[in-house]
Amino acid sequence: MAFPQSRPRRLRQSPALRELVAEVRLGVSDLVAPLFVREGISSPQPISSLSGVLQHTRESLKEEVRALADLGVPAVILFGVPAVKDEVGSGAFDPNGIVQVALGELREELGNRIVLMADLCVDEYTSHGHCGVLNAKGDVDNDATLEIYCKAALAQAQAGAQVVAPSGMMDGQVGAIRAALDGAGFLDTAIMAYSAKYASGLYGPFRDAVDVQIAGGGNRKGYQQDWRNAREALREVAADIEQGADIVMVKPAMSYLDVIASVSERVDVPVAAYHVSGEYAMIKAAAANGWIDHDTVAVEQLTAVKRAGADIILTYFARWFAETQQ
Ligand code: PBG
Repeated sequence: MAFPQSRPRRLRQSPALRELVAEVRLGVSDLVAPLFVREGISSPQPISSLSGVLQHTRESLKEEVRALADLGVPAVILFGVPAVKDEVGSGAFDPNGIVQVALGELREELGNRIVLMADLCVDEYTSHGHCGVLNAKGDVDNDATLEIYCKAALAQAQAGAQVVAPSGMMDGQVGAIRAALDGAGFLDTAIMAYSAKYASGLYGPFRDAVDVQIAGGGNRKGYQQDWRNAREALREVAADIEQGADIVMVKPAMSYLDVIASVSERVDVPVAAYHVSGEYAMIKAAAANGWIDHDTVAVEQLTAVKRAGADIILTYFARWFAETQQ
């Protein structure tokens, strides 16, 4: 006599049954919307490689953040595009820098209705496009850069950021920023560390969005992680937690689901993953050609990131998801 066969399809028979047994559910409360605000423009500018995403004016940014808050998106992360760039990225720490001004306005307008996060880096603000200051040899100087990051953290916290998110992959950045924040009384400003950030080819559209070209056709392989390494990510994450990171991040997302999974198994802080500009742009481009179904693939990918173990997903799909997929 045959044994009763396992019949996994029993639980796939109807939408209600599938809903009942779903292991993860993607919801709007998992999402963080990355937003760009540009100094010195009078109307929002489209970004051709990032369809549907805008470089905002301060005014249009306010409208966007208000709309996201109304839709239940719990957080935004701001990136600035300054009118003028310089060698050290002064716009990142100037109290009158575009992100600081925008943070102040959003805080005043929205209070605590939505979490205001600020990306903490200088690449948008440096003339050479690197994430730090350069030494005489033209290399990124780790420790000189930490001083600038500390100034930027204070400026962002002062302006109203509840979370600062160092993304430059300098060694010791989380500890330095924590000490600077604590020293100035910003004990409650949280740090979301871009802990395992890979030197990915998927940041191209983002660099269009913030007008960054890395000098001399350069790259960030001297400070961002080599994509061949997964164990190294665990060391980076452990170091960041030891230095005081409140949230750790893996970036990009889809090519690093293994890293997200092993990080989330090991740590007891929230894990974020960044579904980056190139990941978004690939879906938009293939869907525009009629090659894949936009909505299905977008939800499939974001759900996969959550299934891998991310508690928080940064995604350019946040507003679309909140408007159409609830
Ligand atoms: C650095 C930073 C980058 C992104 C977020 N923060 C770019 C880089 O490292 O070159 C990329 C995000 C994306 O591609 O969506 N400030």
